[in-house]
Amino acid sequence: MPDLAIDVVDLKKTYRTPFTRRKVEALRGVTFQVERGHIFGFVGPNGAGKTTAIRTLMGLIRPTSGSATILGQKIPSRAARFKVGFLPESPYFYDYLTVSELLDLAGRLFGVPAALRKKRADELIERVGLDRARSQSLKKYSKGMLQRAGLAQALMNDPELVVLDEPMSGLDPIGRKEVRELILSLRDAGKTVFFSTHILSDVEAMTDRVAIIARGQLQDQGKPSQLVQQTILGTDVMIRIAEDADVAALTEAGERVRRRDDELSLTLPADADVDAWIAKAHAAGGKIVQITPRHETLEDLFLRRVEAAS
Ligand SMILES: Nc1ncnc2c1ncn2[C@@H]1O[C@H](COP(=O)(O)OP(=O)(O)OP(=O)(O)O)[C@@H](O)[C@H]1O
Ligand SMILES: [Mg+2]
Repeated sequence: MPDLAIDVVDLKKTYRTPFTRRKVEALRGVTFQVERGHIFGFVGPNGAGKTTAIRTLMGLIRPTSGSATILGQKIPSRAARFKVGFLPESPYFYDYLTVSELLDLAGRLFGVPAALRKKRADELIERVGLDRARSQSLKKYSKGMLQRAGLAQALMNDPELVVLDEPMSGLDPIGRKEVRELILSLRDAGKTVFFSTHILSDVEAMTDRVAIIARGQLQDQGKPSQLVQQTILGTDVMIRIAEDADVAALTEAGERVRRRDDELSLTLPADADVDAWIAKAHAAGGKIVQITPRHETLEDLFLRRVEAAS
């Protein structure tokens, strides 16, 4: 059994809305494990249950049933919470503070000694790129700057496990790249990172494992590369054709057919006889420019799983 940072078993959460008492089944039996030292991406569309799962893990709301441990302790655990850094979905800060004051406060709450607090706050402010804004009050911060302040705050206790609810939200492409690099550097330092997102490109490149959640249930989980490589969707071909080529014959089996001057590109279905098609293309006076198998991307998989769940 690998050393687990998070272990969630059959977690369920049903909200009851006030007044109408309508039931919302936000988590309908979710099970997953996060190994220590991994970057784990928790991916799902709006309303899937990501924040509910995260808030439950952080001990902020109680599950309806099921169990979970973080860093080996049953939730809610104050002892474990001290070793966890947490970035909530919409971080709310006292906006008259500066970022240095915010980090000092976070450090105090975690019992970090004064000298270390100052040193760590300075390092983190630098690391998240808020150096030049360190004396401004948070009131003047943009959404992206607040998100960076939130990330720094989540690291003040030098956590073993970092839990980030949509860490890239509100950030521009440069900001996203910086957060990706920050997350990678946390793993390099031996930390475990668990983060939620609905943006696939954020998880594809950097996560060790992903879980796809939709409508309160996991639809799939595994290594991003393994999840997507199971399926070959077809073959993309591009040929240069002679003027009198029989285009209709060449395109009848294809999808996504496009023609530009003498260039014809299309996708043959996964079960097509590619060799036979190439022979036909040659016979029609075609010259092969490019042939590439079309693998499912994480985006395709995500859409397929989410559609299947709805
Ligand atoms: N306090 C609450 N009371 C009632 N229903 C709630 C409450 N919080 C969340 N829900 C509902 O539970 C479901 C899951 O919400 P949750 O916030 O966990 O999703 P999410 O995956 O984080 O979505 P997003 O990507 O929009 O942040 C949604 O249908 C939501 O409306
Ligand atoms: Mg959410």
